[in-house]
Amino acid sequence: MRTEPETGPPTGAETGPEGERPSAAPSSQETVVSLTGAGASLGSRPVLRGVDLAVRRGEVVALLGANGSGKSTAIRTVVGQVPLDSGEVSLFGTPLKSFRDWARVGYVPQRTTAASGVPATVREVVSSGRLARTRLGLPRRADRAAVDRALELVGMGGRAKDSVNALSGGQHQRVLIARALAGEPELLIMDEPMAGVDLASQQVLAGTLREQVAAGVTVLLVLHELGALEPLIDRAVVLRDGCVQHDGPPPKAVGQHALPGHDHVHPHADGEPARAGLLT
Ligand SMILES: Nc1ncnc2c1ncn2[C@@H]1O[C@H](COP(=O)(O)OP(=O)(O)O)[C@@H](O)[C@H]1O
Ligand SMILES: [Mg+2]
Repeated sequence: MRTEPETGPPTGAETGPEGERPSAAPSSQETVVSLTGAGASLGSRPVLRGVDLAVRRGEVVALLGANGSGKSTAIRTVVGQVPLDSGEVSLFGTPLKSFRDWARVGYVPQRTTAASGVPATVREVVSSGRLARTRLGLPRRADRAAVDRALELVGMGGRAKDSVNALSGGQHQRVLIARALAGEPELLIMDEPMAGVDLASQQVLAGTLREQVAAGVTVLLVLHELGALEPLIDRAVVLRDGCVQHDGPPPKAVGQHALPGHDHVHPHADGEPARAGLLT
């Protein structure tokens, strides 16, 4: 028999049945990301055709599917970069059009080309992930500390002053993840965070993500292969041709392809023919 306190609002601090992920258990009903009947087009082309997707607090959900199936577009509707033709998106229970609390969200976009031509330093890029938390004016000590912590988390602590143009693909990706972590988000959205990342960096990033998940962070990430992240994934949603084809346990076979040489790096040019990939 459970004895419930009669007074006071739920604090969210009740001890969960599992010590491992305390913050996931008490509020596991809360839907952090929700797409319902989401339709979106790029140019005149319908790319999402009625996508339903829910990510609850503390969950790690992988969005899978062949190239061109609409994964990036789905993610980009969630962060407000692609408008919906139909359906709804909400974040933390708030319809996207009224959502303002972007400090709660960290976003790692799909990497396109490594060098931008603008020689920003690693620290500058990572600090930009803190903007939603910095009050107008100069970054405070807490902001600098968060940036340092994020760099340490991805194993780039010694590289703060380096130009991002001098980094390898894997290091560049780690910097983008550090940028998202610098904002100390409750929700991390990442589009192919392991693309172009060498195996050593993949292990570093998997460890970082494991810590974030243990701390209660909710994660929605696009993956080409589950690879090093497989043990962390609670659920997989597979898109095919802009529709949800599967929503449930991660497909087992997928993990085997995270081998050297299977890195999925290409520029995703518009109109590029879909490359044979996951579950095609
Ligand atoms: N800017 C664009 N204009 C028109 N079509 C696009 C654009 N960007 C992507 N597409 C097309 O939309 C489809 C879905 O793209 P995307 O969401 O990037 O898929 P995924 O991330 O699953 O590879 C693809 O067929 C792609 O060619
Ligand atoms: Mg994509």
